[in-house]
Amino acid sequence: MTEPTRIYQKFNSFVEMSHAETEDAQALLRIDSLYSKLGELNFDESKKDVIEKACNALLKPQEASDNPRFKLESYITQEILHQNKEDLPRYLYYRYRYETNFQNFIIDEFPPSVQVEVSSICNYRCVFCYQTDSALTSPKNEHMGLMSVDLFKQVIDELEGNCDQVTIASRGEPLINRNISEMLAYTEGKFVAFKINTNAWFLDEKKSHAILESGVNNLVFSVDAATEPLYSQLRVNGNLERVVKNIRLFQDIRKKHYPNSKILTRASGVKVSTEQSFEEMEGFWGDLVDQVAFVDYNPWENTYERPINDISQPCSDLWRRTFVWFNGFVNPCDVDYRSFLTTGNIKNASLAEIWSGEKYSQLRDAHLNNRRSEQSPCNRCTLV
Ligand SMILES: C[S@@+](CC[C@H](N)C(=O)[O-])C[C@H]1O[C@@H](n2cnc3c(N)ncnc32)[C@H](O)[C@@H]1O
Ligand code: SF4
Repeated sequence: MTEPTRIYQKFNSFVEMSHAETEDAQALLRIDSLYSKLGELNFDESKKDVIEKACNALLKPQEASDNPRFKLESYITQEILHQNKEDLPRYLYYRYRYETNFQNFIIDEFPPSVQVEVSSICNYRCVFCYQTDSALTSPKNEHMGLMSVDLFKQVIDELEGNCDQVTIASRGEPLINRNISEMLAYTEGKFVAFKINTNAWFLDEKKSHAILESGVNNLVFSVDAATEPLYSQLRVNGNLERVVKNIRLFQDIRKKHYPNSKILTRASGVKVSTEQSFEEMEGFWGDLVDQVAFVDYNPWENTYERPINDISQPCSDLWRRTFVWFNGFVNPCDVDYRSFLTTGNIKNASLAEIWSGEKYSQLRDAHLNNRRSEQSPCNRCTLV
């Protein structure tokens, strides 16, 4: 008998997570105070409706059975308490839609979340990552490149005021882009859930200042292990000592020059090996960062060679986020890292047009109408 396919649940991708104690009561007080002043909010009525639903789901979870996935998880509490109080409505507006739009198949004018790829090039070859596929990295296939500052500014201009969750990372290493400091300066104060994922190899003094000045909310150091040789066995081409030194430098700069920074730093691992121990991760990284986590492994390093599976559930990414790649192409996910599913290019159309355009609609229709199996590589992917 064949094993049933193991589904990758995007809404539940943290395998383990630890951080300082959080006070749910304090977060709930903030939400309650917002709830009582909703009428005074200077927002569109439709946005206020969403924020009201978000407050209701968190304040009265027992009554919110229609949206069971929007809960006060401890990392959400931590994010709420790390926000400026006045940014809470924008945070809830993003987070509620991110968690629930796909459950109700709602397509807003803008996606709740956008990943901007400033580099598809990476200096590492982590064993679980698509950077190990030469069909991605071979120059002749033209998937490798760096985003220009002008294109980056165009994307940010469209996102500002329309999408509050922006992640600077997709297929490559963002800090490889020599213009990253100038790019980050351009984002200052524009988003309330602004995130970077990095391997920290190129993190230096200048980039640390750029990250802290721009107001990045979540900085994820992808580290996977707490010891050598495990680190460099998983993070091929990496070196734990160098990365730790860079992260220490970042934290020293933060403490000395930005004592009021609200940034949340995380040491994150992809759980792929029984040799990875969460206790060791916590013991080693716990003093250096605010959060330590393992995320579930998504078998995407060889998407196109994976077996065709029998998953018929729609993919949540089609309703919750999109990806803008270094060359302006928009892709519905990064499991399709060779971009067979591209839905347009922001050099020819706005992101909003692409998000609600023909190609996206066809893809969503297929997923909704039990025809995921006809889409490639959706038929080899396990993400729901
Ligand atoms: C593709 S990387 C790009 C950014 C940067 N190079 C880094 O490593 O953080 C983005 C995130 O995906 C994670 N990742 C890579 N391969 C994965 C996999 N097979 N399953 C789940 N997460 C993965 C990385 O650890 C990282 O946190
Ligand atoms: S996980 Fe990040 S650092 Fe590792 S190979 Fe992939 S893109 Fe590079």
